[in-house]
Amino acid sequence: MWLGIDIGTGGSRALLVDGNGRVVAAHTVAHEDMVQHQPLWAEQRPENWWDAAVAAIRGVLAQSGISGAQIQGIGLSGQMHGLVILDDANRVIRPSLIWCDQRSQAQVDWVNQTVGKAKVLACIANPVLTGFTLPKLLWVRDNEPAQYERIRKVLLPKDYVRFRLTGEFATEVSDASGTALFDVVNRRWSFDLADAVGVDRAFLPACYESSEISGRITAEVAALTGLAAGTPVVGGGGDQAASAVGNGIVAPGIVSCTLGTSGVVFAHMEQVQYDPAGRVHTFCHAVKGKWHVMGVTQGAGLSLQWFRNQLAPGVDYNDLMAEAATAPAGSQGLYWLPYLMGERTPHLDATARGGWFGLTNSHRRADLIRALIEGVSYSQKDCLDIIESLGVEVASVRASGGGAKSPFWRQILADVFNKPVVTLESQEGSALGAALLAMVGTGEYADVPEVCAAVIRENARAEPQATVSPIYARGHATYQALYPALKNLT
Ligand code: XUL
Repeated sequence: MWLGIDIGTGGSRALLVDGNGRVVAAHTVAHEDMVQHQPLWAEQRPENWWDAAVAAIRGVLAQSGISGAQIQGIGLSGQMHGLVILDDANRVIRPSLIWCDQRSQAQVDWVNQTVGKAKVLACIANPVLTGFTLPKLLWVRDNEPAQYERIRKVLLPKDYVRFRLTGEFATEVSDASGTALFDVVNRRWSFDLADAVGVDRAFLPACYESSEISGRITAEVAALTGLAAGTPVVGGGGDQAASAVGNGIVAPGIVSCTLGTSGVVFAHMEQVQYDPAGRVHTFCHAVKGKWHVMGVTQGAGLSLQWFRNQLAPGVDYNDLMAEAATAPAGSQGLYWLPYLMGERTPHLDATARGGWFGLTNSHRRADLIRALIEGVSYSQKDCLDIIESLGVEVASVRASGGGAKSPFWRQILADVFNKPVVTLESQEGSALGAALLAMVGTGEYADVPEVCAAVIRENARAEPQATVSPIYARGHATYQALYPALKNLT
């Protein structure tokens, strides 16, 4: 038996799989909501992730009746880019600035001026973005110098949980890639860039490949959780790379679309290659010695969550989908810009703002919801188009995440992408990917492609509809014209 633990934004999920990679049990514990002291700021407490992870582990063991001693290995996955800072007693210094926090534009500008964009690209194969960890760290240096002085270690969200589980300061290549301090081409920290921006090299934890063992469960944690002391914990992956493993995106040709709070289009790469404009990220894959490229919509599931919380409190998401399905394709000329937390792909603009465009008196709430789903799908199409422009072949798209549970949304994706959209027997994504990485790390399978070939199966398929795709091709063109037209007004 193997355990995958995903530290998401909404909650922590623990999932057990057997030797065939079949899900035996899973248990999720919700996190506290992110705290937004100012618009576009977003914080969570790492201690809350830890408490949720412990409760999820205990929950999955209780539910399955499996004992800790039966678990041969553990893999971690988690929301990427978040800044966790620890002092000399290993205490969390301040709440984490998480992945979608956009407060650090001044620090991004400072890095670009001080180091130069070309050198940054040469060091990390990506531009520095407000979403990444480094500018968040520099924000603390600039704005909370007393807190910065106390820093001894900088960790990513799942790696804080790893530290609590094993006592080790460690990360792995896929998540480290999103810090903006990682030499993605050579799969090691970029001390060049750390030195150039004055970040102490000693802040950075040990870095492993995703399927390598990074530490073992401590006796104290064993007593707390029911896990067995000494159980190996492998590197695991950032949620996107782990989800790609869970979706079998470990060879060229298949691309995934993961609709969680964010929306991500993800492709495997045999050779490292990057978008010179930096609109998509080139990061190390959780497959040893491989890379991936991904485009990110900041406000995917978040758009729907925002709508529900503000305009349809208490309404079930399935009912919102059913309501949206009563509106026609194209939502009667209504468009949604999903830029509730700025945007990454393709605009790289923390100041981008969301909204509907094209409202008339004849629009109903159903159109508002459908437009929202279509707008997020157009944004994911932006990501897909850039990835294809890098020469990546896309025969079909594998959809996963909360949004992909809806057949209605999957059909819209197929029509917007004009490609078949496929789902898998297991829609577990990142927690499953983390468990599969643990299977490889403990020798159950030789490598990640082998375990994926053995356990991952397609089930449903949505084909693009010849009558609808052209409507969305025109809609996408209009959607794309809206951002540049509105850009200077925010
Ligand atoms: C990926 C990204 C998000 C977070 C939260 O770059 O920022 O997907 O990992 O899920």
